[in-house]
Amino acid sequence: MAFSSTLNHEELTFPEGFCWGAATAAYQIEGGWDADGKGPNVWDTFTHQGGDRVFRNQTADVACGSYARWEEDLKCIKQLGLTHYRFSLSWSRLLPDGTTGFINQKGIDYYNKMIDDLLANGVIPMVTLYHFDLPQHLEDQGGWKTGAIVEVFDAYAQFCFGTFGDRVKLWITINEPNVLAFFAYEKGKFPPGIPNPGTGAYQTAHNMIKAHAKAWHSYDSLFRKKQNGQVSLAIFSPWVAPADPASVTDQEAAKRAMALALDLFAKPIFIDGDYPAVLKSQVAAMSKKQGFLSSRLPEFTEEEKRMIKGSADFFAVQYYTTRLAKHHENSEGELNCLKDINVEIFPDPSWQVSQQGSWIHVVPWGIRELLKYIKDTYNNPVIYITENGFPQGDPAPLDDTQRWEYFRQMIQELYKAIHLDEVNLQGYYVWSLLDNFEWTDGYSFRFGLYYVDFDNPALPRFPYKSAMEYAKVIQNNGIKGPL
Ligand code: BGC
Repeated sequence: MAFSSTLNHEELTFPEGFCWGAATAAYQIEGGWDADGKGPNVWDTFTHQGGDRVFRNQTADVACGSYARWEEDLKCIKQLGLTHYRFSLSWSRLLPDGTTGFINQKGIDYYNKMIDDLLANGVIPMVTLYHFDLPQHLEDQGGWKTGAIVEVFDAYAQFCFGTFGDRVKLWITINEPNVLAFFAYEKGKFPPGIPNPGTGAYQTAHNMIKAHAKAWHSYDSLFRKKQNGQVSLAIFSPWVAPADPASVTDQEAAKRAMALALDLFAKPIFIDGDYPAVLKSQVAAMSKKQGFLSSRLPEFTEEEKRMIKGSADFFAVQYYTTRLAKHHENSEGELNCLKDINVEIFPDPSWQVSQQGSWIHVVPWGIRELLKYIKDTYNNPVIYITENGFPQGDPAPLDDTQRWEYFRQMIQELYKAIHLDEVNLQGYYVWSLLDNFEWTDGYSFRFGLYYVDFDNPALPRFPYKSAMEYAKVIQNNGIKGPL
């Protein structure tokens, strides 16, 4: 089919069967933090400790109350007409200490009901095994810093595949391992809250990649034949463009930033089992300069490389924003994984900020660039955007016309990516179905398609205008004019 290089279509109809979804995560919505035998996870501990690490020391003990109010969420899902709903399992609700030594039947019942209700309503579940909420008991044993977690994660994954895989066909093992490695173990902003600059992110990323790959192999060898599903991991990625597009050093800096942001995880898994060469050499050189005996970036054994290579059935990426990059020498040898690549990254001051204080600058064209990059770098894989969203502040107006404009532009860019760039994009999930607990920002940012009244003990949900508009997009499988 021939495509013009610009878009002059009068309406944007997406390919048949395109997945229109919304996403949530257990800790951010469920509440019921100690209900019915659930064990504590690291976010329970972290928020209960206070210490001003979370906005107003808020917790998700109650959050949207989804553990007790699944029916309310289902109403929203049906009103939107979602084809897909992505949610995560609370590991410690199913396995209170993280291991299969004790299984909490009440947790199984809760997720069974969700899955059955979704399917009964024609909505396909995409299930994330782990979205930042590590069981506290496992963190106490060293969490992602220890190699032992690889086996424990695999056992949990096998338990979930065996319990829910007769009905769940789309699996995400780990949500945003790159964000987790960086915020939790490098910067200490997320639990366990202890910074390990220069080493924490690499060490834990290494174990997360192995854990993901091992779980994928378990699915492949033990479940795939019977269950016929697909397994991947969801990687967060900005698009990073050169600050000066004509400058070769800026172009190289942008490439290094993409290598650290995305390829650190994607290249081993989707290409060859190993980290990008540019990162290996940069981190090795910087480590040497800092007096380390070996590179701070660990190495995979040949056997591990074979296990990791090819361990994903589709490419899941989460896009929120774009940054510019320029070369900036880390001449002081500062210990910080972001400084290993000699890059400074920053937003263009002309880009609109989604909400005051937010890191999300609204750059819809960035998603198209990112999709093209994935297509070209990773051999044209099937891609799902498993998260994309924009926050509003608190309180937020139900008439969020401006915000819908962002979503509309974003959807237009997806259309261009499919029709002009021939990217194999098969689905899009809005973050998030509901306003929820936004990690260290607490309830100060509202990402939902539905407003949640957190001051009302009944926690009622109300659709924003964006929800009604998104419902139309889903119904039309695209945007009907005027564009
Ligand atoms: C995470 C979500 C989070 C969202 C908005 C993503 O990085 O997966 O849990 O709420 O971004 O910040």
